[in-house]
Amino acid sequence: MTRPIIIDTDPGQDDAVAVCLALAAPDALTVLGITTVAGNVPLALTTINALKTVELCGRTDVPIHAGAAGPLVGEAVTAEHVHGRTGLDGYDLPTPAIAAASSDAVGFLRETLEAHPPGAVTLCCLGPLTNLALLLKRHPDAAARLHSVVLMGGAYFEVGNITPAAEFNIYADPEAAAKVFASGLELTVMPLDVTHQLLLTEARKSALAAIGNRVSDVIDGWVNFFERFDLDKYGADGAPLHDPSVIAYLLQPELFSGRHINVEIECESPLTRGMSVMDWWRVTDRKPNAQVMGSVDADGFYALLCERLGHFGGGR
Ligand code: BDR
Ligand code: CA
Repeated sequence: MTRPIIIDTDPGQDDAVAVCLALAAPDALTVLGITTVAGNVPLALTTINALKTVELCGRTDVPIHAGAAGPLVGEAVTAEHVHGRTGLDGYDLPTPAIAAASSDAVGFLRETLEAHPPGAVTLCCLGPLTNLALLLKRHPDAAARLHSVVLMGGAYFEVGNITPAAEFNIYADPEAAAKVFASGLELTVMPLDVTHQLLLTEARKSALAAIGNRVSDVIDGWVNFFERFDLDKYGADGAPLHDPSVIAYLLQPELFSGRHINVEIECESPLTRGMSVMDWWRVTDRKPNAQVMGSVDADGFYALLCERLGHFGGGR
């Protein structure tokens, strides 16, 4: 039996690789739909990028629903300095021939959750958590039907990447993240502590490029683009590939290990706004609310990614 999932995302090259990985695993995952959110680039672009990605994978049957154009509070924060003006710089894919199914991501989430048995659907969040926070606010009964949420966001030992204290997805909508971490939903978290172990070394990039199908050619273009920024930042071992960790966890959870701990989100302090305060050492009595991953078998992750992307077959 396959596991039904919805991917909530702000593509972003690493988001797009995560979508490709999910669509490369139809024996394990059924992607019921993709909801988009403003994040790496504005909503209009993240939606176009999601459309381009499902077209690339030959999966135009997967509906795309546009969601929140900005955070619950304040102005949208974007990351063109990492992902380029389009969010998918590095390979010029054609303008999509298909269109978004709706601009009501929250309505789609509600309808889909109500159409499936309670506990059936897993939500994979790869961007700011605005859409999920809106679902929790507007349709709490539908949200309670989720099996679980697996999300990329936050950091503890690695602290921050968009500010010294905060990881991008949480910083882009801290109020939404706070709502999600207080929701009581079953949460699994891939923080920077994990994704910074998933470095795209030369050997791993060569293995990806050697797959030799169109999807891997495009991914090769994408990763070569965004790593120019991360290499300056993180050094010569390669740039981290963040969001595919969420899908890899669903496919091979044994690659990851972590702790069930308390996570709170800082929303007040101007200095540390968006910080994920993770009680890794369990030094408080605060109730654990998330399974936070701390380590990953990086070679195993890249072996999985290459093996699955090879399923696309076809020529260049
Ligand atoms: C996260 O922020 C975005 O830039 C990436 O797509 C990833 O989801 C990493 O901090
Ligand atoms: Ca993302």
